[in-house]
Amino acid sequence: MNDRTSPHAPTALPFVVERNAHPVNSEERARLLADPGFGRVFTDHMVMIRYNDAKGWHDAKVMPRGPLSIDPATAVLHYAQEIFEGLKAYKLADGSMALFRPEANARRFRDSAQRLAMAELPEDLFIESLRQIVTIDRDWFPDIEGGSLYLRPFMFASEVFLGVKPSSEYIYIVLASSVGGYFKSGAPAISLLVSQEHTRAAPGGTGAAKCGGNYAASLVAQADAIAKGFDQVVFLDAAERRWVEELGGMNLFFVFSDGSIQTPPLGGTILPGITRDALLTLAREDGIVVREEPYSIEQWQADAESGRLTEAFACGTAAVVTPIGRVTGANGAFSIGAGGPGQFTTRMKDRLVAIQRGLAPDPHHWVMRLD
Ligand code: PLP
Ligand code: COI
Repeated sequence: MNDRTSPHAPTALPFVVERNAHPVNSEERARLLADPGFGRVFTDHMVMIRYNDAKGWHDAKVMPRGPLSIDPATAVLHYAQEIFEGLKAYKLADGSMALFRPEANARRFRDSAQRLAMAELPEDLFIESLRQIVTIDRDWFPDIEGGSLYLRPFMFASEVFLGVKPSSEYIYIVLASSVGGYFKSGAPAISLLVSQEHTRAAPGGTGAAKCGGNYAASLVAQADAIAKGFDQVVFLDAAERRWVEELGGMNLFFVFSDGSIQTPPLGGTILPGITRDALLTLAREDGIVVREEPYSIEQWQADAESGRLTEAFACGTAAVVTPIGRVTGANGAFSIGAGGPGQFTTRMKDRLVAIQRGLAPDPHHWVMRLD
């Protein structure tokens, strides 16, 4: 059966579980979990599911995490047909494990697959794959402030063929990584460099898809910013080089002195962030005036300098809600508010985290308990 297009095809795909015979021992795991950072500490297992045009999705496995052996002519190595997701599993106060809005990631993964002409993974199979990895690696939650298990589902073109066409075979994998905060510096607010030379995505391109190529395209600008002492790059739109889009891995919000907030609209060139959507929902519920409208870099600077803009923050799964303190653009640097975390930003972060951690009511049913 071919599952390329059906969103809710019954998965009933059995997972064969092969436990890692040599898991990391508990002392070493405790050492790793004390200060995991981001994206360096991996658990003992991974999930793998295969697809080909003849069989559809098949061969679902939970297996020891380890290297892949692939043919050098594997399509992804040449034409970058690859997509991924990022979401966190949390240990709640009552000890149970939960995911935050995994069905939204499942849907976005399908949207990304469509854009990259890849096979679409049924949403319930995506969610089941997350349940499998979190369950088997439940000892890998770091018991530290802000700690979680970051899940990285991804899929790549695995056909061995050098012709340029959509692959007829795919491998889907889920990794789990014990994480703390995303930013190393621990500074109260991040500093941003506005990229003058590079853009991340163009109209008609892949900016709204979560594909590896978008991140590859952002690295020169990001590395340049880091080398100059900044934390992240702000990308402007590709057509006019004027409208603020997003950071390399986070969406942006602006907070004004009249109490309203604004974020760039989803127009195909920025990633439709799930954190962005959750914050928009919470803010609207609070009666806050919310605009999803373009905001220019000139206006950002003018508003910061006049005091009309009081706060700005970045948001995403990895970054959660991160205050922005200072921005450097073509017309010099400017600070936002007092340059540290503002009240609104802190309040939104606390509200979101309380829901994610099961400490506040969850009227939208965003939290999916796994046990
Ligand atoms: N924008 C980009 C380019 C990202 O990589 C991410 C992270 O996934 C986000 C925005 C935020 O998306 P989300 O809130 O779904 O993590
Ligand atoms: C995430 O927040 O999940 C991302 O994919 C962004 C990346 C910077 C880690």
